[in-house]
Amino acid sequence: MPRVQVDGIDLSYRDTGGEGAAVVLLHGFPFDSTLWDPQFDALGRDVRLIAPDLRGFGGSSPPPGPSGYSMSAFASDVAALLDHLELPQVVLGGLSMGGYVSFELLRHHPERVMGLVLADTRAEADAPEVRDKREAQAKQVAERGGGSLVLPMMEALLSEDTRRNRPEAVRALRVVMEQDDRSWIGGLEAMRERADSSDLLDGISVPTLIVVGQHDAIAPPDVARGMSERIPGARLVVLEGAGHVSNLEAPDAFNAALSSFLEEL
Ligand code: MLT
Repeated sequence: MPRVQVDGIDLSYRDTGGEGAAVVLLHGFPFDSTLWDPQFDALGRDVRLIAPDLRGFGGSSPPPGPSGYSMSAFASDVAALLDHLELPQVVLGGLSMGGYVSFELLRHHPERVMGLVLADTRAEADAPEVRDKREAQAKQVAERGGGSLVLPMMEALLSEDTRRNRPEAVRALRVVMEQDDRSWIGGLEAMRERADSSDLLDGISVPTLIVVGQHDAIAPPDVARGMSERIPGARLVVLEGAGHVSNLEAPDAFNAALSSFLEEL
């Protein structure tokens, strides 16, 4: 995978190259760009897809200390990557934590976004009980490693349907969750400290697609519906049978929704 030096970080990214509007896909937590394999496999020949490993995840090097993980640091890395690729504007897509990063980019670099895809995410900051949970999870990672959280988290991430009937998706997610303990802790901290982005919703003026798994337990369909009611002209697609990782759990339906959105752009 190519790499670029950004703010002292070796940022690795995938880029299919090609003509036309580029689509930048930002992964969730605790994942990396391989989360987007189902989109690269199906759409990567027709659409220019770019997916960075956010700092500390996948092949990207971690920042020197825990304070180097934040939504604004993730977002400025992405903006620097766009500079490096000489892309003034892109279609920006993010799943879950990738959506939190997308909101941060929209806040600071709205001119770079010509279309928006928000998948299984929310604009609000963490509720107090979620903040407490993240703190406990970070403590557990420090004591027992990120691997100790994989199984309990998979229960929340994947729908029951996926867990029962899609062993290949379960396996793929397990592999993608093998991340450095520093990044487990840094990512949890970054999500815990993220700003509320609800104030941005009414002012989003680019075409927006909102995708959500029918059984998403982390950013449920009601949250997606609420965002779609506030973002002018947003389109909402609910993916049947999928949980929180809808691009992996219902790849065909996710890809169809993304393709038709891109065609209309
Ligand atoms: C993610 O998928 O990025 C996380 O589950 C998001 C979160 O925990 O808020």
